Amino acid sequence: MRSAVVRGRSRTIDAGPYEVRISAGLRSEFASIIATVAPAHCYAVITDDRVGPLHAGPLMDALASHGRPTLHTMPAGEAHKTRDTWARLTDDLLAAGCGRDTTVVALGGGVVGDLAGFVAATFMRGVPFVQCPTSLLAMIDASVGGKTGVDTQAGKNLVGAFHTPAAVLADVELLATLPVEHRRAGLAEAIKHGVIADAGHFAELSESLPGLLAGDAASTLDAVARSVEIKSSVVRADVREHGLRKTLNFGHTIGHAIEHESGYALLHGECVAIGMVLEARLAERLGIAEEGTAERIERILLRAKLPVARPESLSAEQIVGATRLDKKARSGSAEYALPARIGEMANAESGWSIAVADAAVLEVLA
Ligand SMILES: NC(=O)c1ccc[n+]([C@@H]2O[C@H](COP(=O)([O-])OP(=O)(O)OC[C@H]3O[C@@H](n4cnc5c(N)ncnc54)[C@H](O)[C@@H]3O)[C@@H](O)[C@H]2O)c1
Ligand SMILES: [Zn+2]
Repeated sequence: MRSAVVRGRSRTIDAGPYEVRISAGLRSEFASIIATVAPAHCYAVITDDRVGPLHAGPLMDALASHGRPTLHTMPAGEAHKTRDTWARLTDDLLAAGCGRDTTVVALGGGVVGDLAGFVAATFMRGVPFVQCPTSLLAMIDASVGGKTGVDTQAGKNLVGAFHTPAAVLADVELLATLPVEHRRAGLAEAIKHGVIADAGHFAELSESLPGLLAGDAASTLDAVARSVEIKSSVVRADVREHGLRKTLNFGHTIGHAIEHESGYALLHGECVAIGMVLEARLAERLGIAEEGTAERIERILLRAKLPVARPESLSAEQIVGATRLDKKARSGSAEYALPARIGEMANAESGWSIAVADAAVLEVLA
């Protein structure tokens, strides 16, 4: 990674009640920033068994000058984003003697962020937390916006809470150890931000794609910063998802259904990639999206080596069935946030999403 190029360059994005700080090398300041924005007696660092061994050591050492750091490690992967893990982590915090004067620190990808945030939202009826995202997807998307929670047998993210972080601290140098397939998956959410709000971002991602895939720090920093600006401005306008925030669900109604039905064999970002292409195609069929929108999305995703079609192991009926597990589904239809064109979403008049009959979705999936 050419981190030297961007050393010293940093971005701070005002996300409303908190800041998102992004730079190359920020990890050396994590502890002092955490101690400033969320001072506590106990700093409970939650991580997973892949990220912890790589990156937790220096943070634990640095936090020791500000309070009592404790380390809590969960197994990596979406399959562990469960109430069981939440119960184990909260028991673990109690056993470590953490009380009300605790700040939870999430050090990991979106799974760790969602779980640690849910621990923070519920532990002692709520303690502050700071997100230190380590995956591209978590930097670009999951760490911002205050949604926390776990999956259940019935579907994704069905139990959770809104809990705003005290800060989000992203060091793009931490991505040097991220496996490439997770880098690709993160790009899917960045591309989504381009589609829903900014054709310029979409074009820039397309141009810098080779560098982004190769781990170029300068283009990564720019892409993360622009995506965070988009996501945080959407969230600020509609924290509790009554309207505009629904646009962030583009690709996710079908994406979550595939993710759930595949038994989490596919990565979240991969499922969102497939979901975006199919939902854009659906939007074209319904006369909502400009012709060619789906094809443009498909082209950039293919260049990012992301999947764009329904996995053969899953039938169209099975996927449509699973869209009904979505929080917003009604019988015989599900809610979709659909694009009008690259950079602009449709259906503002109906609160940025519309109910689409299962039959229409089946046709696109078939
Ligand atoms: N709360 C939100 O608003 C929101 C938004 C988007 C996605 N999400 C959630 O985020 C999750 C997906 O996030 P993800 O893709 O980061 O998954 P993840 O947390 O499973 O991380 C992906 C993998 O990369 C590893 N990893 C992370 N950082 C690493 C690093 N620097 N070096 C080496 N390995 C590293 C992890 O251990 C894991 O194996 C899903 O559960 C999704 O629902 C939440
Ligand atoms: Zn997502």
